[in-house]
Amino acid sequence: MGRLDGKRAVITGAASGIGEATARLFVAEGASVVLADVDTGRGERLAAELGERASFVATDVSSEADVTAAVATCVRVFGGLEVMFNNAGVPGASGGIEDIDVASWDHTLGVHLRGVFLGIRAAARVMRPQGYGSIINTSSVAAFRANLGGHAYSAAKAAIRQLTVTTANELGEHGVRVNAVCPGAVATAIFGRAAGLDGEAAQRTVGFITAALSEAAPIPRTGQPVDIAEAVLWLASDAASFVNGQAIAVDGGLLTGTPRRSRPVSTEELFALLRDAAEQTAGESADT
Ligand SMILES: NC(=O)c1ccc[n+]([C@@H]2O[C@H](COP(=O)([O-])OP(=O)(O)OC[C@H]3O[C@@H](n4cnc5c(N)ncnc54)[C@H](O)[C@@H]3O)[C@@H](O)[C@H]2O)c1
Repeated sequence: MGRLDGKRAVITGAASGIGEATARLFVAEGASVVLADVDTGRGERLAAELGERASFVATDVSSEADVTAAVATCVRVFGGLEVMFNNAGVPGASGGIEDIDVASWDHTLGVHLRGVFLGIRAAARVMRPQGYGSIINTSSVAAFRANLGGHAYSAAKAAIRQLTVTTANELGEHGVRVNAVCPGAVATAIFGRAAGLDGEAAQRTVGFITAALSEAAPIPRTGQPVDIAEAVLWLASDAASFVNGQAIAVDGGLLTGTPRRSRPVSTEELFALLRDAAEQTAGESADT
């Protein structure tokens, strides 16, 4: 028996990375899934591979009409909607605050915050009347701390976290739960995209990033998309039926702080240096 038997889901950003891993896991666990993404090539190939319980819909999440159509397709093709995973994302505007151009700020907020708003709204229009459903939004550890994403990206992810809270509060009494996942460093093409690479070139950087980010968190490995997919699956499933309004970090402990092993000087070394410093300046102290 699958953990999502019979559930119908829309997953945005499903053609790559976290969305792709979630789509694969959802289908393996018995769900039917609409894959919504701007990347038609990868999206259609994945839908073909996953078979009759997957359908690709070309979707720009910042377009009201596209998001409405993706949800309508799920209801029409699979007969309903129990799960909405608002996950599509871009690395977004980069640079210091004085240098960010307004168009790239708007694009970053448009894909992330407007995209999640449109996804929650479209899903709520189906789920509130039926009296059940689970909405999951992809926020980030960048919603909590600086330097884990650019200014626009981090602001959008924090706003997504709070939109999760306010909509969870409104929709809970109608049987609709809204939660967020906050991934840490996860090996996907998003880092290659941040470096200006597109398509398959960005995908080819995943191995490099797996090695490069392995020391970022207390758990000494880079996150894999399936790590996030498992948390999303749990939030989508009936096992999480009393979980509402949460932002769950899946980050190997990154938000707990710098790993002990990565501190420039260990505690023991620091204590030894302090004792040395006191000894070396003992004469000076006595003179003053
Ligand atoms: N990888 C990480 O370390 C990490 C950490 C925290 C949060 N996240 C978030 O996870 C989510 C998924 O990112 P990922 O790491 O899997 O990256 P990814 O680049 O592998 O996948 C992102 C997907 O979103 C799609 N997309 C981009 N713009 C879109 C739009 N306007 N409409 C529809 N689809 C669009 C892309 O085509 C791609 O398939 C994003 O919201 C990202 O911000 C990632």
